[in-house]
Amino acid sequence: MQGSANLNVMIKAARAAGRSLVKDFREVENLQVSSKGAGDFVSRADIAAEKIIRDELMQARPNYGWVGEESDAVEGKDPTRRWIVDPLDGTTNFLHGLPHWAVSIALEHKGEIVSGVVFDPAKDEMFVAEKGAGAWLNESRLRVSDRTKMIESIFITGLPFGGRGDLPETLKDLGRLLPMTAGVRRWGSAALDLAYVAAGRGDGYWERRLNAWDIAAGLLIVREAGGFVESLSGEGDPLETGDLICGNPGVFDKFSKTIRNV
Ligand code: IPD
Ligand code: CA
Ligand code: CA
Ligand code: CA
Repeated sequence: MQGSANLNVMIKAARAAGRSLVKDFREVENLQVSSKGAGDFVSRADIAAEKIIRDELMQARPNYGWVGEESDAVEGKDPTRRWIVDPLDGTTNFLHGLPHWAVSIALEHKGEIVSGVVFDPAKDEMFVAEKGAGAWLNESRLRVSDRTKMIESIFITGLPFGGRGDLPETLKDLGRLLPMTAGVRRWGSAALDLAYVAAGRGDGYWERRLNAWDIAAGLLIVREAGGFVESLSGEGDPLETGDLICGNPGVFDKFSKTIRNV
């Protein structure tokens, strides 16, 4: 796709961070790791990748603001634009040597995501989208699946770890959803979960207790691939509510009613 100058800056930063992450992934057993809470880790690889992205983006667009998972937020001189970045989405997979994790970079303008990049360096898959211009995986246009039958569809979620409070609700969701579908997957990277719905590899995805950096890029990619994205309640912006449900238009109604239990 012919991306904007901003998208090209984002892709360059994602590739640079990807190179650093791939190097660290090869020697993951030597990485310094600390815990941020029960079952919640951050490593030297997360921090190094975030610095690479931050330096690259701040140098290219010094007036834009910044929100990243592993560093302090910056209010830009241009208050209408900011980067929303997760340098390594899927840290737990990464630390277990599981090659399923990604770099996520979004650009917000006046409260709306206008460009998004989710890069999976281990598979060399670059998912990108720009508002109104579509979504792409490397050189191919992305389109959500066209399945309409729940029993033929698979759904993706994130399971609460380390004693998180949303466990009972998630278990109830699974109890209602599993019997009527072809299954549920838990892959461990919210950014890739969204990119996979955009690519038709999953038919829908829902999760609670997310942060803006987990989903900012991915939700634009889903929308630009023709999917529906809402907060779990259907009210407000998922970037603020921190929960989300999305899917292809053929199953979204049934899927969202099942999760919402209405
Ligand atoms: C996590 C992943 C995971 C989701 C967690 C996130 P991190 O992000 O996206 O799939 O279930 O809620 O925190 O910490 O690996 O960047
Ligand atoms: Ca984290
Ligand atoms: Ca994340
Ligand atoms: Ca992260």
